[in-house]
Amino acid sequence: MSWQIREAVPSDFRSLVCVDSVAEKDDGRRAQIASAISKGHCWVACDEDDPAVPVGYGCLDRSFFGEWFVPLVIVSDAHRRCGIGRKIIAHLERCSSAKKIFTSTNNSNTPMRQLLAQLGYQSSGVVENLDPGDPELIFMKVLDE
Ligand SMILES: CC(C)(COP(=O)(O)OP(=O)(O)OC[C@H]1O[C@@H](n2cnc3c(N)ncnc32)[C@H](O)[C@@H]1OP(=O)(O)O)[C@@H](O)C(=O)NCCC(=O)NCCS
Repeated sequence: MSWQIREAVPSDFRSLVCVDSVAEKDDGRRAQIASAISKGHCWVACDEDDPAVPVGYGCLDRSFFGEWFVPLVIVSDAHRRCGIGRKIIAHLERCSSAKKIFTSTNNSNTPMRQLLAQLGYQSSGVVENLDPGDPELIFMKVLDE
């Protein structure tokens, strides 16, 4: 399959809630997705042959001390390990047109940590006490050397 990344539109909202198991249960996550779509901060991944049906999404904003930040990258369970997460993040990096970009994930999130290592992200600090016993790790990538 060939995957395309495009900016999310309001009609994608339902699909993104299905893609994201947290959003199915969490009002806050649904509000976060809706806000990101309305602000133009959300991009979706679709099969080129089925461009109306997102199978993953990623968000990009400047919520981290004013720096470019990727707060969410989610790929549906059924489409993981096909290179979609990598493609979404690479697209967000290009969209930022920044010199550096930040993201974060829980220490326990091996898939995301491996993905970030593969894309050249470096460790940029730790925030304790968000999720008990599972520190939030901050990562940064230099985009313009
Ligand atoms: C993290 C996530 C976005 C990765 O998406 P994905 O499309 O499956 O990732 P990719 O197929 O692009 O994988 C790229 C690389 O990441 C690493 N990776 C991805 N999933 C992995 C896993 N389960 N175990 C170990 N490494 C993994 C590998 O290095 C992989 O490269 P390879 O397949 O050539 O070995 C996906 O697992 C996900 O949606 N997780 C739940 C949401 C989440 O935790 N998001 C991150 C914080 S917001």
